[in-house]
Amino acid sequence: MTVEEDYSRQLGFTVELRYEGKARFLSPVLPNSKDFAPTSLPAFFNPASKLSRDIAVLFLKAYFENREITVCEPLAGTGVRSIRFILETNLVNYVLANDISRNAYQLIKINAKLNNVEDRLEASNLDANELLAARGRGRPRFDYVDIDPAGSPAKYMENGFRGCGKNSVLGATATDLSALTGAKPFSCLRKYDSYSVKTPFLKEVSIRILAGFAVRTAARIGLAAEPVFTFLKSYYTRVFVKVSPGIDKAKKLLREIGWISYCPRCLALYVYRTSDTPISICKRCLSTIHPVGPLWLGRLCSEEIIKKMLNYANREHEIYGEAVNLLEQLLEEDTSIIGYYPVNVISSILKVRPVKPNNVIEELREKGYRATSTHLDPSAFKTDAPPEIIKEVFLHLARK
Ligand SMILES: C[S@@+](CC[C@H](N)C(=O)[O-])C[C@H]1O[C@@H](n2cnc3c(N)ncnc32)[C@H](O)[C@@H]1O
Ligand SMILES: [Zn+2]
Repeated sequence: MTVEEDYSRQLGFTVELRYEGKARFLSPVLPNSKDFAPTSLPAFFNPASKLSRDIAVLFLKAYFENREITVCEPLAGTGVRSIRFILETNLVNYVLANDISRNAYQLIKINAKLNNVEDRLEASNLDANELLAARGRGRPRFDYVDIDPAGSPAKYMENGFRGCGKNSVLGATATDLSALTGAKPFSCLRKYDSYSVKTPFLKEVSIRILAGFAVRTAARIGLAAEPVFTFLKSYYTRVFVKVSPGIDKAKKLLREIGWISYCPRCLALYVYRTSDTPISICKRCLSTIHPVGPLWLGRLCSEEIIKKMLNYANREHEIYGEAVNLLEQLLEEDTSIIGYYPVNVISSILKVRPVKPNNVIEELREKGYRATSTHLDPSAFKTDAPPEIIKEVFLHLARK
């Protein structure tokens, strides 16, 4: 009998052996069809989230460097993420990998054994909120909490912060992009207490709403949560926030929370803090516009962290090749600039032929404005130039 057959009998569902990063682990047998729903498996596993796990590993290596850390993964599925943290960072001396599903819990224990990490990995079978909320009352908090649900992390966020120790980090995934991108504004309002409408830069709005929600949630319980690394890839977005105690620090971060109003008619982009008057009439063309927010207006990534992550990724390209591409794109991007413009949006407003984003970026820089590409859309550019200048550049390039 093979290892898989033996464990399948024990577990009561069929499993297969898989390899990812430095881990070998069992997952339920995956259907052949590419777009199966991982939530329909006896225990959750999505091979398409490898990049999310790669990035989390690289983030821990870059952020904590030589510090020994403890980790909590309250929604762990097969446990592969936690196991990879142990095997690939050499920083983790204890992980609590938890899942509410009995099947997942059994798999986590088996997978820990398969990778010889049982001495550093404890499995539990609780509700994530129950586990996290109980931290701090005689139970040690963690240096890193990774909230990785299928859907929105909103309902786990406050307790996630309760599980965070001094000078820790919380990482969170959201896969409910239809709410965050403005396709379902009331879902966004319900879950994130933020109003989202469609804009040409809706992917960035998603990241900023999630980051802003993390900042506001932590502030409520007296913690400062500063976004240090964020990205969005296909069906999910992720934020990593640095967590430290202090009401004053939390209030300072709240000053970076605000609103964006975008005018689709004249391209004007208004950015304003929560304490300012809402902008719902465009000052340039007097169109009615819909504010989006509250959201995070500050920088979305620390350049220093991206560089360190990239350095680690390049050392083991065979594992982290896809992460290298993403990190290189992020390094090009100025995440302190708010929003981005896909070139076809502007071309259709101006009724001119499309121009290449790189040419726009080059010309805007020549004129003294900040302009970069974005990992969120290869056909777009980010800039702090006003609409008149963007239009001037487009008309000039289209006539060339
Ligand atoms: C997206 S999967 C986790 C994937 C995993 N982090 C990885 O990287 O492979 C989400 C998991 O959360 C579990 N879950 C759902 N609700 C939960 C709850 N209230 N408490 C704990 N786990 C829960 C599900 O059983 C599922 O295994
Ligand atoms: Zn306008």
